[in-house]
Amino acid sequence: MRGVVAERTGPAPAAPGRPEEWPLARPFRIGELEIPNRVVQAPLAGIANWPFRLQSQRHGAGMAVSEMVASMGVRHGNRRTLDMMAIDPRETVTGIQLFGADPAAMAHAAVVAQEAGARMVDINMGCPVHKVRKTGAGSSLLGDLPRAEAIVTAMARAVDIPVTVKMRRGLTPAEARPVEAARRFEAAGAAAIAFHPRAAEEEYRGVADHAITADVVAAVAIPVMASGDITTPGAAREVLERTGCAAVMIGRAALGDPWVFGAMATGRPSLRPGLPGVVEEIAAFAADARAVLGDRRAVHFMRKFYPWYLAGEDVPQREVAALLVIEDLDEALGRLRHLAGCAPLASARGLN
Ligand SMILES: Cc1cc2nc3c(=O)[nH]c(=O)nc-3n(C[C@H](O)[C@H](O)[C@H](O)COP(=O)(O)O)c2cc1C
Repeated sequence: MRGVVAERTGPAPAAPGRPEEWPLARPFRIGELEIPNRVVQAPLAGIANWPFRLQSQRHGAGMAVSEMVASMGVRHGNRRTLDMMAIDPRETVTGIQLFGADPAAMAHAAVVAQEAGARMVDINMGCPVHKVRKTGAGSSLLGDLPRAEAIVTAMARAVDIPVTVKMRRGLTPAEARPVEAARRFEAAGAAAIAFHPRAAEEEYRGVADHAITADVVAAVAIPVMASGDITTPGAAREVLERTGCAAVMIGRAALGDPWVFGAMATGRPSLRPGLPGVVEEIAAFAADARAVLGDRRAVHFMRKFYPWYLAGEDVPQREVAALLVIEDLDEALGRLRHLAGCAPLASARGLN
């Protein structure tokens, strides 16, 4: 994951073509749902809460998908799980992603997601993490297609919003049958597929081979969103045109760089500001994170983001390391403002 973020060296180069011809700027549909452009923020566990999604949308993502939410936690009324389904009224088009292996629990959680304001509900069939797989959920479902189909069907019957599937190509490269799986999910009632062409066993190794995405696009009539290693507007356009997919889904490239959504959605150069502007973006994001998580959890949540935002900025590594041990959010933000030359460190505390 660090690789993608660390390679960032500055604003993305201007993409070729006039903005009005920019293919990612056109809307697309998933069932009845119209999405204003073809750049979708990927589901990201531990990251894509409403502050993150709101930020993605504010910067130009046509749709944002939540972190994965445990359907069993929803069934048991677990407070933390239900809180993960909160959608802020300012969000535009938001999908909630669910994981689980029980069709009835997934259908019930889909109803709760719909009631929470989700515009679509997505099924996680890609997570390679052992803790999730051992329950039969995530990518395990790609090894049990009858169960996966039953989940799609149960959810599609339970809600009016579109039900989508986010899948990897298979469990292992040798066993993968992505075309067959995608066709079966379509027949079971899926309104779209988000496709990451690595196998679960590969985790994040190697390069996402979107030639496999093109095979899936050709095999189904429903829209396919391509996910994996799409980091620049030029790459986004290339994947869109080469595979015929309906949209691109952006994960790691947006960590510390929400401006990438605007560049991809318009074809214009990135509006990523200089360090003072980056720090103000972090402060605004932190204010929302604090509102949803409370002070203590927000400190830890925001620590994930400092190295991502500061990659490629002229900030010494020891300063980044220092931010990761500060126990007070205002103090961390004050230190960041000092680094950006916006405030003397002595008065940094309590600035936000
Ligand atoms: C930190 C992190 C968390 C992720 N969480 C989820 C998740 O909750 N659900 C999911 O379907 N995929 C998840 N993914 C996979 C991404 O949605 C995406 O498919 C993958 O990272 C490839 O796209 P990228 O190269 O644009 O990051 C996660 C990826 C990362 C790096």
